This record gives sequence, structure tokens and C-alpha cells, in this order.
Amino acid sequence: MATILDKPETKEAMSSLNLEKIRRDFPILRREVDGKRLVYLDNAATSQKPLSVINKISEYYQRYNANVHRGIHTLSEEATAMYEGTRETVRHFIDAKETCEIIFTRGTTEGINLVASTWGRQNVLPGDEIVLSPMEHHSNLVPWQVLAQEREAKLVFLELTAEGEIDMEAAAKLIGSRTRIVAVTQMSNVLGTINPIKELAALAHKQGAVILVDGAQSVPHMQISVQEMDADFVAFSLHKMLGPTGVGVLWGKKDILKAMPPYMYGGDMIASVSRERSRYNELPWKFEAGTPNIGDVIASAAAFEYLTTMGLDNVREHEVEITRYALNRLREINGITIYGPKDPQKRGGVISFNMKDIHPHDLGQILSDAGIAIRAGHHCCQPLMKDLQVMGTARASFYIYNTFEEVDMLLAALREADKVMGNVAYR
Ligand SMILES: Cc1ncc(COP(=O)(O)O)c(C=O)c1O
Repeated sequence: MATILDKPETKEAMSSLNLEKIRRDFPILRREVDGKRLVYLDNAATSQKPLSVINKISEYYQRYNANVHRGIHTLSEEATAMYEGTRETVRHFIDAKETCEIIFTRGTTEGINLVASTWGRQNVLPGDEIVLSPMEHHSNLVPWQVLAQEREAKLVFLELTAEGEIDMEAAAKLIGSRTRIVAVTQMSNVLGTINPIKELAALAHKQGAVILVDGAQSVPHMQISVQEMDADFVAFSLHKMLGPTGVGVLWGKKDILKAMPPYMYGGDMIASVSRERSRYNELPWKFEAGTPNIGDVIASAAAFEYLTTMGLDNVREHEVEITRYALNRLREINGITIYGPKDPQKRGGVISFNMKDIHPHDLGQILSDAGIAIRAGHHCCQPLMKDLQVMGTARASFYIYNTFEEVDMLLAALREADKVMGNVAYR
């Protein structure tokens, strides 16, 4: 019987994964767009979902839909066991020490907001510095801007090299005694750059600061160990890693989480309540006020299991190879500008580019007409667009079901776009 790791005898044998078999698990990949086969290359925005995840959502609502933690009936006990079981699955997946360090959120954005408004308000004082990289998604920038304004703190930005990597020599000088937190993405959603978290964590800790890692683009695509990288917080979203929308994880070191005030107040986050005051619940429930997204959290376990069975090292290897192939093929096109590191080992499967003076939205539209879904625009990184001196980019991003043939289809459609639009000047 073929397994996920068996390779077929085709061009796709360049992959570490059995793409044909994987693709059969994703019903949406069989659909057509305007009579053309769907080529989904917008995985950095959100990934597609395998049947096992879709079925698990349906199973929850059909078999044991009930509220968690409060009921003493069978359905509630089953739902609670599945919900809390997912927490243990997450702990194992990211190599956290304890399950109480895993907080379910709505996504990366909520996780970062939680830290900025609880830990941030408690620890950032006037004159303190919050260190960010210039490649941060708005989700890991705006919450810190608001905190800095509120606390009269200062935002300090790391510097990038010409290839879009963090200049670590400059970082060693910029992270200083006034630094309270370094908040940085592990993988850029624009440049694809993979940042050296362990080294940044060491610089932060040397100054008595903490480090928050935006794992939205890294956790779905590479094996991480929160202990090994020595981060203090890591936030990520399930919808970018085969899971449902509306579920995220915030992991934090237990001692730090314990000392933080709650984020939201209400049911489930309390130990006891009197008319005047309340005692708060233990970790992690202290940070999970109200009825959580039970069905989607439970279904997320199927996403973690799918990736674990496949092996994150195989996922990464596939993405390095397909990115290498795509970078080489894209470089064949005259007048193309590709952003980020040249070496596919130094980046994730996200390729942002511009072609001559063609507006990225026009490119996106022409590709869409060919059944190819990419993203075009500022990718929620407006300051980075300003640094790159562009109004936006086109972005193709890969995942476990993307084939080398699909890269060829992207190339063919880009050549077509060049024919139609290549002489149009926008600037
Ligand atoms: C690097 C990065 N950070 C944060 C986010 C925000 O994630 P979410 O919208 O799931 O909260 C994204 C989403 O694209 C991202 O790419």
C-alpha cells in the first residue's frame, strides 16, 4: 500500500512527499475555476483542509456537541476530553514543557494582542524599548505601536541586509539595556526569510528582555521546539496549517504566563466569584474566558496529526525543493524582481515578486483567469513595502500538495501576462 512518503515515478519524484496521494486528501483541489483546474498558490494566506479535518468538525457536531469544562453529562465529558486532548497534541507538536502553557486563541493576531495588552501593560514603562523587525506583519506591529503610545515607550527596528535577512551585528547593538521585548517573525510572509530566533533570544535574554515569536508562517512548515529556540512566547494560527479558521495557539513560558493578568474576563477564567471580586482560574484557563471554539479546536487535532504523520522534516524538504525549482524558473523571466534570500535553504516556500511595471493586482487577475490563485498587494506589511519602494508585490506560496507541474503552470501564465501587459507602464 502506498504511503505518504512513497514517491511516484514522475517529475514529482523531486519531492520528499507523495504528492498524488496527498492531493487526494484535499477535496477542494479537484474543483475547477472557470473550467480550469484550480492551482492554489495562496497558502501563506490560508491553507486548504484535508478530509480528516473536515470530517472531524462534522463528527463533533453530529456526535458530541456540548460545552466544555462545566457539564457532568456524557457529551460534555467527551467534548472536554477531546478539547483538552488537543492541548496535549499541541504541546507535543511544538515541544513545550507543559500543557498548561498552551492557550487557545482565535489566531496569531489574538495571541500577540494578548501578550501586548497583558504582559506589555505590566512590564513596559516610559522610555523602555520594544524591538521589532522591519518585516513584521501588521499583527506583530500595530499592537506594539498602541502599547508604545500608551506607555510612552519607543519602537526600535532591526536592520535588514540587501537580501532581506536580519543584520545580526546591528541587532547585537540595537537590543540593549532599555529593551523589554523583542517581537519578531520566524518566517517572513513576504520575503520568506527564516530568522535566527535562537540567536535573537540569546541577545534579548542577555539584556533581561523577553522574546515573542510570530510563528504564523513557520510553525506550519518546519519542525520547531519552543524549548530549543528558547523563546518566551510563540503565536500561530491553525488555518495556515490545514486546520480550521478561528483557532490559534499562544504558547508562553509557564512562569511568565502565571505572572500575567488575564486578557478577558468572564466565565471559565475564574476560580471563584463574589459580588465584589473574583479569583482567577489556573493556567491555561485563566486566558480562555467564555465558551471557546470547541469544534474547531477539536478538529485541529486532525491537522496536527496529518502533519506529524507526514513528518515536518519532509514538509520542509518538499518546500525547499519546490521553492528552489520555482526560483530558478522565475529567474528565466525577463524583467522579474524577486524579493528575499536567494538560497532556498534560508527561506520558506513564499515567493514575492514583481514583473516589469505590471501592477501586482493585474498579475493576480490574469493568473486568476487561468485558474491560479496567488496573493497580490501589501500582504499586511506596508512598512516593508515602503522599504522595498513598491506599492505591493505578487506572491506565490506553496504547501504540501503543490506540485512542480503547478510551478510550470504559474510560469506559463506569467509569460502570458507578460505578453498582454508587459509594455504597460504604471510608474
Ligand atoms: C507573519 C504573519 N503574522 C501574523 C499573521 C496573522 O495571522 P492571523 O490572521 O491568522 O491572525 C499572518 C497572516 O497572514 C502572518 O503571515
